[in-house]
Amino acid sequence: MAILVTGGAGFIGSHTCVQLLNAGYEVIVLDNLSNASEKSLDRVRELTGKNLKFYKGDILDRDILNKVFETEDISSVIHFAGLKSVGESVKKPLEYYDNNITGTLTLVDVMRQHNVKNIIFSSSATVYGDPAEIPITEKCPKGQCTNPYGWTKSMLEQILTDIQHADNEWNVVLLRYFNPIGAHPSGRMGENPNGIPNNLMPYITQVAVGKLKELSIFGDDYDTTDGTGVRDYIHVMDLADGHVKALSKLAKGTGLSIYNLGTGTGYSVLDIVHNFERATGIKIPYKVAPRRAGDIAVCYSNADKAKKELGWEANYGILEMCRDSWNWQKSNPEGY
Ligand code: NAD
Ligand code: UD1
Repeated sequence: MAILVTGGAGFIGSHTCVQLLNAGYEVIVLDNLSNASEKSLDRVRELTGKNLKFYKGDILDRDILNKVFETEDISSVIHFAGLKSVGESVKKPLEYYDNNITGTLTLVDVMRQHNVKNIIFSSSATVYGDPAEIPITEKCPKGQCTNPYGWTKSMLEQILTDIQHADNEWNVVLLRYFNPIGAHPSGRMGENPNGIPNNLMPYITQVAVGKLKELSIFGDDYDTTDGTGVRDYIHVMDLADGHVKALSKLAKGTGLSIYNLGTGTGYSVLDIVHNFERATGIKIPYKVAPRRAGDIAVCYSNADKAKKELGWEANYGILEMCRDSWNWQKSNPEGY
């Protein structure tokens, strides 16, 4: 039996493939390569010494999905495929709703036709909006998203929940990621953003490597210890392990489950700059800029539920996250 990993050539997907192969799973990847390079999968093979099968295709394409489910003996799907740029989603809402929502509906419908009813879905802490509690537990009510990308996550959580409620043969795990950073400790795999990065860590590593001049810190007047925004950064290898643990949960057939995947610790933007400097010895020039629209002050998890029910917790600390992000950037300045 194999695991189908949609979006498996991407940042989190490729690291998860490594951990799945290391755990002995057979892995099939479906990815349209709209935001990834197939080279990431060569690195997965190189790092694990194991093979995985790759289908270049789109989750909107029913024919390729049918072909995959007819050809392969799939037990569960880990569904990473999706568009994820917040700013782009504001400019292209139709494309985001179509790709993420229609794509997932098509995938789930084909899964049902082939009687594969186990799915792990990549959700995000963004579904909490401006969170009603800190640290955020899974019981925290979902909030207002500030962009179409966030809404696709919130809506897809609802859709998958309704599908599971209507047919209890479905096992659905919704994983709410906090802020994934870091890279495979080998420096062979990592995040490969297109153009100028929107997220903090890729921006910092590109300043460190000399591609960008200085970091702009978006606001230093938040109600936090140093005025800059606080987030729950999590190493991508820990995140990948969370999926392996969630698969064991799926195999036990437990209906609908929701987990935060975070470390439970919040770091401010300045904390990240300082830890990056400590981990790498490289100074990061920065200036303070206005707040970014849609940003919130503080967002970090309570990760107790995943520990209790999945036996999962984050192991990598902030210095290792900075070290591995930098390792990847400096050995692959142009990405894959
Ligand atoms: P990524 O862009 O690196 O990976 C997504 C992959 O999906 C890419 O390889 C892309 O080519 C593929 N893809 C997109 N649309 C597709 C389609 N229609 N058919 C087939 N393949 C398609 O992103 P990532 O950071 O690895 O994120 C993976 C998932 O986790 C996404 O769903 C994302 O929204 C979610 N997520 C990411 C973060 C983050 O900070 N990186 C945080 C929370 C949630
Ligand atoms: C962003 C997305 C969120 C998504 C998450 C992971 C927004 C509003 N939210 O979250 O939906 O799930 O990425 O992909 O875009 N910062 C700077 N300078 C920069 C970049 C960021 O100061 O150049 C600050 C931000 O203001 C924030 C922190 O760094 O306080 C982290 O930002 P980022 O990495 O973009 O993640 P989020 O905003 O948490």
